[in-house]
Amino acid sequence: MDRRKFLTSTGVAAGALIVSPAVGMASTSNPKGKKRRMALVGTGIRGVNMFGRDLLRNYSEYVELVGLCDTNPGRLQYAAGYIGATCPTFTNLEEMIKKQKPEVLIVTTEDSVHHEVIIKGMEMGCDIITEKPLTIDEVKAQAILDAEKRTGRNIIVTFNYRYPPYRAKMKELIVSGLVGDINTVDFHWNIHHSHLMFYMQRWHGHVNKGGSLWVHKATHHFDMVNWFLDSEPEQVFAYASLDRFGKNGKYRGKNCRSCEHTAKCPYYWDITKNEHLMGLYVNNEKHDGYIRDNCVFRESIDIYERHAAVVKYKNGAMLNYSLTGDTDYDGYWIAFNGTKGRLEARIEGYPGKSFAEMIFTPIDRYTNEKPKIYRVEYTPDGHWGGDPLMKDKLFKDPNMPDPLGQQATLRDGVMSVLIGIAARKSVATGKPVDIKGLTSLEPRAKRV
Ligand SMILES: NC(=O)c1ccc[n+]([C@@H]2O[C@H](COP(=O)([O-])OP(=O)(O)OC[C@H]3O[C@@H](n4cnc5c(N)ncnc54)[C@H](O)[C@@H]3O)[C@@H](O)[C@H]2O)c1
Repeated sequence: MDRRKFLTSTGVAAGALIVSPAVGMASTSNPKGKKRRMALVGTGIRGVNMFGRDLLRNYSEYVELVGLCDTNPGRLQYAAGYIGATCPTFTNLEEMIKKQKPEVLIVTTEDSVHHEVIIKGMEMGCDIITEKPLTIDEVKAQAILDAEKRTGRNIIVTFNYRYPPYRAKMKELIVSGLVGDINTVDFHWNIHHSHLMFYMQRWHGHVNKGGSLWVHKATHHFDMVNWFLDSEPEQVFAYASLDRFGKNGKYRGKNCRSCEHTAKCPYYWDITKNEHLMGLYVNNEKHDGYIRDNCVFRESIDIYERHAAVVKYKNGAMLNYSLTGDTDYDGYWIAFNGTKGRLEARIEGYPGKSFAEMIFTPIDRYTNEKPKIYRVEYTPDGHWGGDPLMKDKLFKDPNMPDPLGQQATLRDGVMSVLIGIAARKSVATGKPVDIKGLTSLEPRAKRV
């Protein structure tokens, strides 16, 4: 499949169809009998639950899963059984691509090796659908940009946070001009510390594996703001600290299963009660030493819990951002302050909530305009109902119109991780960090 066909089949060009019908795309990229050949690389929890199993259950009419690849042979076999896949499995990526000739690789490995899989895949002729974050540092980001240029292949980053219906509504209201030109954005995200614990347990606790939560988690948030503002970041200043986990703990063990402190540890977690996680991880530790229930107080943890950043955008807007992981609260609020008023949305992350509210307060106090409330129904499952919508576009009907530009490009993936990377550098140096110069991409006032 060449670059143009991929753009068409994945819907990247769908926005272009709306503004320029002359471009002319087929009504569907999946004519009967011609399924797209896709392979999954990284058969951990995200790979099997978000993509592998669903591809077979819901999208097998449109997509053929032609291969599964993971460096851990035991996890790979368990994953194949869990997914119900009959395709061949591989521990070697190159061998899989040579034998199975996938058109598209779905990349769900840990963050620090995304670039290796993406670059190898593109060099061997595949287009890429990759999980966020695109990658964890600017050198790897540049290597991906270079490979894309060299090979002419295409990359989609699965920013599922753009897809929940109420976020689409927020974007729609902003695009409609309701708030005018946006001057500032207030965006504050809280992760309950019992939720943060799951990051601390795994590779996410190490900067060289997940880039810290500035990148691993905040890539979602920075991408949302880039997308809402329709602009790119220029400069970042940040502070961060680690106060509760890692070396701050007063005791520690090897992992929860073998720990002598379970009675007093607030983060004791019994993985043996979860059959699926036992099958994926514990039973396959012998192959690669991947421990799923690592001690959250291990001294090597070098990421942060508290994060605060200011981001200046190329169009003049400013973002006040925080990511707080040491409270008993899970949820966030976001507000856009513009020349015509303030649009605020506050959503809590508890299951069972089925609507989101956005409040618009007009700025002109001399009119009788009252605040307006916009309410959007949504399903709490699948990241507030976003995951299935994103998958429909990726797999079922890639030609689906994309008037809000929800499908994210390589450039979007780079711009969002660069904010986190710059924040990390700012924390280390105490100085503001320019986005320009981190990679060959020059930030633009308006995204393209
Ligand atoms: N968009 C979202 O909301 C969301 C949610 C969860 C996870 N994710 C992303 O999905 C990805 C996977 O997360 P996870 O929780 O499943 O991690 P995981 O550690 O459970 O799984 C990663 C898998 O990759 C395998 N792997 C490592 N190096 C490899 C290589 N070179 N080639 C092939 N396989 C390799 C590991 O053996 C493991 O099975 C991460 O990038 C994560 O950031 C995104």
